Amino acid sequence: MKHQIKEAKGKLGVLMPGLGAVATTFIAGVASIRKGLSKPIGSVTQMGSIRLGKRTENRNPKIKDFVSLASLDDLVFGGWDVYEDNVYTAAVKAEVLDRFMLEAIRPELEAIVPMKAAFDKNFVKNLDGTHIKEGNRYEQAQAVMEDIKNFKEKNGCDRVVMVWCGSTEIYHEPAEVHMSLAAFEKGLKDNDPRIAPSMIYAYAAIKLGVPYANGAPNLTCDIPALTELAKQTKTPIGGKDFKTGQTLMKTILAPGLHARALGMEGWFSTNILGNRDGWVLDDPDNFKTKEVSKLGVLEDILHPDENPELYGDLYHKIRINYYPPRKDNKESWDNIDILGWMGYKMQIKVNFLCRDSILAAPIVLDLALFIDFAKRAGMSGIQEWLSFYFKSPQTAPGLRPEHDIFKQLIKLENTLRYLMGEDLITHLGLDYYEGILEAQ
Ligand SMILES: NC(=O)c1ccc[n+]([C@@H]2O[C@H](COP(=O)([O-])OP(=O)(O)OC[C@H]3O[C@@H](n4cnc5c(N)ncnc54)[C@H](O)[C@@H]3O)[C@@H](O)[C@H]2O)c1
Repeated sequence: MKHQIKEAKGKLGVLMPGLGAVATTFIAGVASIRKGLSKPIGSVTQMGSIRLGKRTENRNPKIKDFVSLASLDDLVFGGWDVYEDNVYTAAVKAEVLDRFMLEAIRPELEAIVPMKAAFDKNFVKNLDGTHIKEGNRYEQAQAVMEDIKNFKEKNGCDRVVMVWCGSTEIYHEPAEVHMSLAAFEKGLKDNDPRIAPSMIYAYAAIKLGVPYANGAPNLTCDIPALTELAKQTKTPIGGKDFKTGQTLMKTILAPGLHARALGMEGWFSTNILGNRDGWVLDDPDNFKTKEVSKLGVLEDILHPDENPELYGDLYHKIRINYYPPRKDNKESWDNIDILGWMGYKMQIKVNFLCRDSILAAPIVLDLALFIDFAKRAGMSGIQEWLSFYFKSPQTAPGLRPEHDIFKQLIKLENTLRYLMGEDLITHLGLDYYEGILEAQ
């Protein structure tokens, strides 16, 4: 049965706290694609297809032709930053995209000017921007809500979504103030220092029923107070941390090694990067948030507890080093020590010369389109089917996140099939063989 899904009519506002490398690469990419200057490579919504029905039916539409998603022409962008640079200037400074490409879309980018940020330097010590809202946390939340409403009205948007593209905040664990909506709202009024700026944006969005996706490893909406609010306002939410670069490779490779029941003794990952994200992560408290997000991946794919002979001694180490000459062109090295038949040792080396924001930008696009789709389909709360896009997928309490990218894709595709009234695909395919057996 097909679900009732409202059509994607009118403009969709995509609001981003943090107009840095990822956000500006995303906006510039969409602007250049609209002009026919480039292609949305890496975006599953734009370039991916989905099989429907049996293999013999040969139905493989593009995802964007199968489900009703906002078209790229209907997207309008806005955001907040602690620096005043417009999107063109911020993109030039980020040094991700070629200057000639940026010149071709300069007017559109220059027109997008950040709103003043809800900020607390204690959460990102390496930033010194001054484009910041006045007032305590409660007043900042009210101001963000006003920003959202004004943006929507000024741009004639039918709907709005928010994707956190701001810096990684320092590591902190959920405290009392995060445990219920009542405690959180009291905390806002008391200007409780345990409420992070990212939580202020998330609260403002969810309170207004604006779907929220978290691209950084910060707790943000992964706290009981905000999942409660999401339930109350029927708002879809998701996080955490865009799955790009090294973790993308990890969640592609590890399921394959695990599938072949090969053992693993160690996985050492190191990175160099020199963008502003790298500078923020140079602070140990901010790095800790990223480290926790990246570390869970292998354990959840390999399940050492269930398979101690293969993975019981696994040593997993991750390093990120700030190295300015590389800017956004991160280079990562992985050394994987694996075990084969009779315990014989082997090694795999991966050297990925990637472009961080080039991998992240299509994720921002897909998340914005899918989380808007989720809202129109009447879905709310944690959208686990979007785990495909996250390093550290947010789940319901007590549930283990699924990190295997192939299982994540099956879940994403089956969710779309389910909502559109198509058969789920189990890959059993026994009916083809039954025919053969009967014929013998
Ligand atoms: N680039 C990737 O591949 C990738 C992958 C996964 C996650 N991420 C995460 O995405 C986020 C953005 O990455 P980036 O490379 O664009 O970083 P960036 O440093 O270029 O941009 C982040 C921007 O957020 C702004 N900011 C910080 N706190 C803010 C606040 N409270 N309100 C408004 N603006 C705020 C900063 O001033 C900065 O301009 C980071 O948290 C990063 O860890 C990036």
